[in-house]
Amino acid sequence: MKINKRLKTIGDLVPLSTYPLDIGCDHALLSIYLVKEKGLNKVVASDNKSGPLKKAKENVDFYKVKDKVELIKREGLDSYKEGIDTITISGMGGLNINKIIDNNKKYLKNINTLILSPNNYSLAVKRKLVKYGYYIEFEDLVKENNIIYEIIVFKKGRKYYSYKKLFLGPVLSLKNDSLTHEYYQNLLNSKESLLKALPKTFKSKIRLTKKEIKYLKDILNKSAIN
Ligand SMILES: C[S@@+](CC[C@H](N)C(=O)[O-])C[C@H]1O[C@@H](n2cnc3c(N)ncnc32)[C@H](O)[C@@H]1O
Repeated sequence: MKINKRLKTIGDLVPLSTYPLDIGCDHALLSIYLVKEKGLNKVVASDNKSGPLKKAKENVDFYKVKDKVELIKREGLDSYKEGIDTITISGMGGLNINKIIDNNKKYLKNINTLILSPNNYSLAVKRKLVKYGYYIEFEDLVKENNIIYEIIVFKKGRKYYSYKKLFLGPVLSLKNDSLTHEYYQNLLNSKESLLKALPKTFKSKIRLTKKEIKYLKDILNKSAIN
């Protein structure tokens, strides 16, 4: 089936023996990929809007996977069903992802894996999940239409991360390829612009941004040598 590289990467990270819920499914292509190409038995695809779910239903009918992909119209984790142990959320802002998790954190006790791909504020997402007892098992980057997307796999379990480790990404910071380099360079550019724009009275934000710029320069210099 036709699926973009970003969604395929997310789909390939979903553990095969799980019962996943894709929140904000839109077209439901990720869920369809999971049952058609990865052999999962059942998945739930949910969205809080009718337009996307109409599209999802058309795709589910087209690919003839009605018996395996359950479509639910509900807000965030309200679509949780007994037995679900994996959650995917992609293509929305990090603060929206955090809100979805905060609104229904009671369900986290049943969730072993979260595969999250925030469009922004990924540090806030990482901090939230670590606070709720998850560690980062894997991180990946996918570039499509000139945009670099972050994909983070969280697993249940506690691990301590320094601010620097979490900011750079505990797995990403071990990589030394051109896409990771480009990702850090983009982040450095945006932090330098932010620093220029910050009012002088924002003392602690200025201190933090300077620290982040140093972390980024250090890692970029290191990867240039290796
Ligand atoms: C840009 S689409 C991303 C679709 C797909 N996940 C992807 O990565 O290609 C975001 C979808 O999330 C849905 N959405 C946003 N906030 C939501 C929430 N709180 N609960 C459920 N769905 C939500 C939107 O209606 C939209 O269909």
